[in-house]
Amino acid sequence: MNVSATPTVKPTPALVDPFGRAITYVRVSVTDRCDFRCVYCMSEEMQFLPKRDLLTLEELDRLCSAFVTRGTRKLRITGGEPLVRRDIMTLFRRLSRHLDSGALKELTLTTNGSLLSKYADELADCGVKRINVSIDTLDPAKFREITRRGDLRVVLAGLDAAQEAGLSIKLNAVALKGVNEAEVFDLVKFAHGRGMDMTFIEVMPLGEVEGERFDQYWPLSEVRAKLSEQFTLEATDYSTGGPARYYKAKETGGRIGFITPLTHNFCESCNRVRVTCTGTLYMCLGQEDAADLREPLRAAPTDEKLHEAIEAAIRRKPKGHDFIIDRDTQQPALARHMSVTGG
Ligand code: GTP
Ligand code: 5AD
Ligand code: SF4
Repeated sequence: MNVSATPTVKPTPALVDPFGRAITYVRVSVTDRCDFRCVYCMSEEMQFLPKRDLLTLEELDRLCSAFVTRGTRKLRITGGEPLVRRDIMTLFRRLSRHLDSGALKELTLTTNGSLLSKYADELADCGVKRINVSIDTLDPAKFREITRRGDLRVVLAGLDAAQEAGLSIKLNAVALKGVNEAEVFDLVKFAHGRGMDMTFIEVMPLGEVEGERFDQYWPLSEVRAKLSEQFTLEATDYSTGGPARYYKAKETGGRIGFITPLTHNFCESCNRVRVTCTGTLYMCLGQEDAADLREPLRAAPTDEKLHEAIEAAIRRKPKGHDFIIDRDTQQPALARHMSVTGG
């Protein structure tokens, strides 16, 4: 062995949890605020965090970069609505250096689309290639009801702007019993007609909302059965590194993804953690345990303490969530809303 060839750079070990799952996907919520109030996500009256509690964009960059040095290959910026955070493009611009270096494979975001017309070009310029946009219905009145204040036309214009900027799009629709049941065919046809993937999501019991979760919950096994009335669904092994299982609709040639935290638990292949805008690391979307990264981040200008805190947290990553929605379970599985962790 040639001893002189031994690398002198201190290795930065990858993050692997106690179940042997490598953590390569980090979802970072940059704000808990949103310009919508979707009925399954937020209550009408939300208490948002005081702005002074938020990590600065510089701190968010440091935090994300620390994860990138530890093997994160995919960074998803979430909210609330990430594009409502002031100067958010500064963060995308800075993070894009990890795409340039090849350390990061994907920099992306999940958005409600309301500000895409404004930001699509700049996002593309920062190396973002594929984005996820939430649209639960194509009926403007129903869209207003679900989002409590959104304007579908603005979101559709945002989709146009994103496609003109060259961004690929996955549409997300939460399957809502009695609300968008009749629309699943139209959603698929709309998405596939424009070359977009379409994903359906089971509603998760996170946070108090005005309605009963049981009344909202529409299992995707039923959605799939319904879709099969018009589409021939062929299983694929396409994967984005997220939890969706994808099928190809033979009639359109497009992809339909199913995210089924309730009917089919995908935790065994979990590769992700999420960080909130205050620097709290949640090792699982469906559990309470969390680690504070803000304190070690602010304790010193170097990252040793931060890495220690991240390592200690990953050692505690739980095996999975245990969401239940049934008629008898009145309490949400977790008190925090989806807008805190960004899904
Ligand atoms: P890609 O696969 O990269 O397209 O993204 P994604 O599906 O991981 O991200 P997106 O933000 O579009 O999330 C879609 C839905 O999946 C949201 O409702 C998330 O809450 C949910 N989701 C993402 N990761 C997890 C997870 O680890 N557990 C659970 N239960 N839900 C998740
Ligand atoms: N259950 C399932 N999906 C949810 N989302 C928000 N709240 C919930 C919930 N309680 C979805 C949004 C968006 C994604 C980030 O999560 O519609 O598509
Ligand atoms: Fe992973 Fe937790 Fe999500 Fe399950 S619920 S897939 S363990 S983050």
